[in-house]
Formats: sequence, C-alpha cells, structure tokens
Amino acid sequence: VASTFYKYQGFWHPCRHLQGILSCQKHFQAQDTDIILVSTPKSGTTWLKAILFALLNRTRFPISQKNHPLLSNNPHVLVPFLEIKLYLEQENPDLSSIVSPRLFSTHMPDVSLPKSVHDSQCKLVYLCRNPKDTLISLWSFTNKLRLQEMGTNSLEEASERFCGGVSMYGPFWDHVLGYWEESLKNPEKVLFLKYEEIKEQPKLCLEKLACFLGCPFSLKEEIEGVVDDILEICSFDHLSKLQVNMEGKLPSGENCNLFFRKGEVGDSKNYLSPEMEERLDKICKEKLDGSGLQF
Ligand code: A3P
Repeated sequence: VASTFYKYQGFWHPCRHLQGILSCQKHFQAQDTDIILVSTPKSGTTWLKAILFALLNRTRFPISQKNHPLLSNNPHVLVPFLEIKLYLEQENPDLSSIVSPRLFSTHMPDVSLPKSVHDSQCKLVYLCRNPKDTLISLWSFTNKLRLQEMGTNSLEEASERFCGGVSMYGPFWDHVLGYWEESLKNPEKVLFLKYEEIKEQPKLCLEKLACFLGCPFSLKEEIEGVVDDILEICSFDHLSKLQVNMEGKLPSGENCNLFFRKGEVGDSKNYLSPEMEERLDKICKEKLDGSGLQF
C-alpha cells in the first residue's frame, strides 16, 4: 500500500487525494466568512461536521424541525471535503451558490492549505484524536473499504506504517503539531479540539465552538436547551441509527455506515498489543515533548 501513497510537502497522500489537493491549492479562494473543519482521518470528522452544520444553521433549520437536513443527509453530503470531493471531481468547481458562511472540510496539513486560507480571515476548526484510537479506527475503516478488492491488512502492517508516518495524511504527529502551533500563535483563527475532549465535555466544547465562530448561544437558547438538542441530534446513537446512515451511500460510492463503528474512547485497548502501545507512547513522547500537547 505504501507504494500507492505519494509524499507531498512532507505528508503522504493517496494519488487521487493529491490530485484534489493540487487543484484546491491552485483554485480555492477562501472568503473571510468561511469556516473550514480540518481533521486527521478517523478523528470524528463525521460527528463534528454534523455539529457544525447544526450549530451554524440553527436559525434556518431549527433542531426540532421534522425535516432537519441531518435527518435525511449524511454529514459528508452537507459539509463537503474540499480535496476529496469538490476539487477531485472538477479542477475548478463553481462554489458560488453555497450560502454564507460556507462550511467546508479538509484533511490537508497546515503546510498544504491554499494560500488564501492563510491570507483571509476565515476560521479553522481543527480536530484530532489520540493516535491509538485513530490507528484502530483507520485500520478497520480501510479494511472494510479494501475488503472486496484487495483483502485485508493485518494490524501489524497497519501499525508499522502508521508509526513510520506512512498513513493517510501522515505523519500523524506532524499533522497535529502543525495545527497545534498555529492555534497557539493565532487562537482567533484556529480552534484546536480533541475527540476525547468533546466526548468528556460536549456542552462546554459546543459553547466554545459557538463563541469561536462568532455565534454564541443566547440566554434564551440556553434556557430552551438548544445546546443539548444539537448534541442529541448529532450523537452517535442518533446518527448511526438513521436510515440514511445505515443504508445510504455517498455520491462517491462509500456506504454511509462505514463512518459509524463504535464511537468510543479507548477501544484501541481491545486490539493493540502491549508492544504496539509502548511504541506509540514512545513516539508521542519524542514528537510532542516540549510542545505542551499531550494525548
Ligand atoms: P471508531 O472507529 O473508533 O468507532 P471520521 O468521521 O473522522 O471518519 O471518524 C470516524 C470515527 O468517529 C469512528 O470511530 C466513528 O465511529 C466515530 N463517530 C462517528 N460519528 C460519531 C458521533 N456522532 N459521535 C461520536 N463518534 C462518532
């Protein structure tokens, strides 16, 4: 599999994703009001897409609405990936019909973001997850995708590659550190979130997100329980049981149910050997030492 990945600006990408990154770098013009969710693969992107969509559209689509778009659309359809969806299908797609604030998503590392993203006032919400759970989630996801075509990968192989940095948008640690440093330098522009943090204090995270994006909850909304309602509609239990997510397919062909597995913190304990855990701990220690970031 390593041979089908290409290294570009220090990070590994499948060929098709790289094509999308290059078109996006060439053509994407960020607007000051844009919001871009950046994440490492398998860090809970689907979840945060749903949350961001519900949050930003809560006036246009009240959560209690029977035909809320999240009830009949997978979050990846509502919040498109820049380089995997928009700029992969077309060299320079027309984005003019998207209503403001435009909400996009990407896995691009900081060094690869289109220049206009840095030059504009647009905001970045960054999401990552502890590397052990990320590895297990990624391993099971790619195995499910590969199953029919190529057979599955062993966890040993997957772990070896992940630790060596040769995974989708890896090295994982460089991706995370790039945005961690950016968020310290420019906290108005980059909000750094971890999957575990949202799991632990969902309400606090959602309020922080709303403030960061300039749309804090009003007292009336707090009293009416809008924060809880958003978390409920976006919860794993709710989203994973919707018909669209159980049986639907993305326009690109993947089954929507691939994006919902367990949705737990610490599931990697059930898979990783003590040696694998030790190796990941050691890499974390070496790479993140002195950065102030921990998993
Ligand atoms: P697991 O494989 O550990 O279950 P991504 O969306 O970035 O591809 O990440 C997928 C991971 O997020 C999967 O983790 C998936 O189960 C989990 N996930 C999906 N929806 C979720 C939700 N609403 N709440 C919590 N976790 C969710």
